Amino acid sequence: MKKFIVPGALLAALAVSFAFKGNEGYTAVKALPKNTVEKTPAENYANYCASCHGEKMDAFTDRQWKHGSDAKDLVVSIKKGWVNEGMPAFEKTFTNKEVEELAAYIKKGIQNVATFNFDSEPVTGTFKSEKLTVKLDTVATGLDITWGMAFLPDGNLLVTERGGKIYRIANKNKQEITGVPEVLNEGQGGLLDIALSPKFKTDNLVYFSYSKPKKENGKTLATTAVIAAKLQGNELVNQKIIFEALPYAPTRHHYGSRLVFDDKGYLFISVGERGNEQQNPQQLNDNQLGKIHRINADGSLPADNPFKDKNGKPTSIYCYGNRNPQSLAFNPWTNDLWETEHGPRGGDEINIIKPAKNYGWPKTSYGINYNGTTITDKATAPGITDPILYWLPSIAPSGMVFVTGDKYSPWKGALLVGSLRFKYLNLCYLNGNKVVKEEKLLKNIGRVRDVRQAPDGYIYVAVEKPASAIYRLVPVK
Ligand code: HEC
Repeated sequence: MKKFIVPGALLAALAVSFAFKGNEGYTAVKALPKNTVEKTPAENYANYCASCHGEKMDAFTDRQWKHGSDAKDLVVSIKKGWVNEGMPAFEKTFTNKEVEELAAYIKKGIQNVATFNFDSEPVTGTFKSEKLTVKLDTVATGLDITWGMAFLPDGNLLVTERGGKIYRIANKNKQEITGVPEVLNEGQGGLLDIALSPKFKTDNLVYFSYSKPKKENGKTLATTAVIAAKLQGNELVNQKIIFEALPYAPTRHHYGSRLVFDDKGYLFISVGERGNEQQNPQQLNDNQLGKIHRINADGSLPADNPFKDKNGKPTSIYCYGNRNPQSLAFNPWTNDLWETEHGPRGGDEINIIKPAKNYGWPKTSYGINYNGTTITDKATAPGITDPILYWLPSIAPSGMVFVTGDKYSPWKGALLVGSLRFKYLNLCYLNGNKVVKEEKLLKNIGRVRDVRQAPDGYIYVAVEKPASAIYRLVPVK
């Protein structure tokens, strides 16, 4: 971040700029002499704009434009500023050519965001993609907000409804599962993910995550918890809480909460930072928020987990510095654990999760605050494990799955990620650990909550209201 000298005349604007930055530690306000040599728009952006609008121009352009998004509107904003709102005037800093080039530079970012504007596209039962056409086969309807899905060995599907219900979908029939405990269905919380025991055929155990409430001094606090229970017919019995992320928090968001077993039978649980980034994600002592955890299937802790407590006993923490991780999946070719997390605006990520690593939040991020202020000017730092991909603009990633088998041969080996925000399914073609190309599938289908592959190889997609449905994707020859 560049530092600038503040001339007295700009002090009023400065005060507003402070307000704009909130209490996040402000560095600078400007009014440098005119550039003696014309600079490129990227250089000018980095030197004069990034301190307030974020290092990544794309994150800045991912906004509701208050003063217009045409080149001529941008030119006015840059030249005249909106001094009373904290936007300095740059008329005296740049040449006309520099201002116009900056406006064009920002326009490019706006166009990138606009490629996600397919709200007006009709939703039909058939979706063409570059290499494959698929038809939707509706498997279930009338679901409020489906959060997670798990296939039983017989091909039946268990789904969680965030409001607090679990259903079995058998031959397109919805049967309610009884014995689900009370969940705190507020904000982003409720009944969340579901996973089967790796030994389900013999132990019949089902695992699910949820927002668990607790009353304290008249207030309701909540946390992400995991229950294991036995599925007997359509009833859950012998519930046991096997994980509870501490501390409980008063907020109602960033629960994280995806569940996945590895091939050794360890259960991985993602937990969000509950909206308190200063306190939680970097704190390793007695704090389980903003982390990914590894536990044994019975809730006990593996002796070789990477972090120990004060008494030298293992903790559940596997890695830290995660914001709101909503998906976890094992890459079947490398056996690595992949994760996506919701960053701030412009900072959603795909990470490869390794023990003891720090994924950076909130020390590093590609994103900026939702109100446009900067969280950190660092996208990377020593000791931080960088994402393999970040999304600008943020797509709000939900569930994900690696495509195996031959049902969808052109997509075999790719990764599918649901997008809540832009209402489509994101296809990531991979080469090893690199995302080499992305494609937008099922445009405008609705907020995609989860995507899974059934034992028979078909892909299922859970979509929120108004569709409130689960679809099977059937390739069309
Ligand atoms: C001191 C902080 C600060 C700096 C530095 C800054 N801006 Fe701004 N900018 C703001 C604020 C605050 C607003 C919002 C003003 C408002 O809401 O009316 C804004 C608004 C804008 C807008 C209008 C956005 C809209 O919604 O219509 C544009 C365009 C813009 N800035 C471009 C730039 C460019 C280009 C630079 C670098 C040359 C820059 N800004 C540097 C704080 C800053």
